[in-house]
Amino acid sequence: MPNGLWVVPVGLMILVLSIVSAGLSAEIGDGGFGLGHPVSESDIATWNIDVSPDGQGLPPGQGTVTQGAQLYAMKCASCHGPTGKEGPNDVLVGGQGSLRTAKPLKTIGSYWPYATTLYDYLRRAMPFTAPQSLKPGDIYALVAWLLNQNQIIAEDTILDAHSLSKIEMPNRNGFIPDPRPDIH
Ligand code: HEC
Repeated sequence: MPNGLWVVPVGLMILVLSIVSAGLSAEIGDGGFGLGHPVSESDIATWNIDVSPDGQGLPPGQGTVTQGAQLYAMKCASCHGPTGKEGPNDVLVGGQGSLRTAKPLKTIGSYWPYATTLYDYLRRAMPFTAPQSLKPGDIYALVAWLLNQNQIIAEDTILDAHSLSKIEMPNRNGFIPDPRPDIH
């Protein structure tokens, strides 16, 4: 094809493209697509519920072993058993010293490396049928009862953000960091 004949289609294409992109940028404008609304601190707060191993993210509030016993009987025992050992769902109590045996029993007391992430888990996921329905004080109380049943804290302990962060779990050093890099 002689060179001159390309001038028309290419010129036409550039013209069409610039009209389309001018139209698009006019529609997008400077402020985006004009959809949604800015996210406020309180919007974020309802999603921002994670608790780190060092206790960061633990809310104000407190709970006792006795309060926890009542809550557990009401909201948890049907699935985890009256003492946390019977099931039918995950066993939560006992098993300490069993990890190196032929029948390891992984529970909060035998396996979990942090007490703080137990708070995170209950807050996020339990009771199974009504997740995120527990109040901060209820969660401290349930954590207190579960740790007491696992013989990690005394019966008169009052748990709050400060005392919970200080608890050292029996299997704290049973995990080895995986040094392999992430796969890209
Ligand atoms: C309707 C049944 C049900 C109820 C009620 C329930 N759970 Fe659970 N729970 C489960 C199931 C099922 C799992 C396993 C979930 C999974 O693996 O994803 C579980 C897992 C757990 C775990 C993690 C165990 C582990 O070592 O991995 C804890 C801790 C726990 N539940 C505590 C509680 C507490 C405390 C309550 C009461 C507030 C409660 N659960 C109420 C069914 C229930």
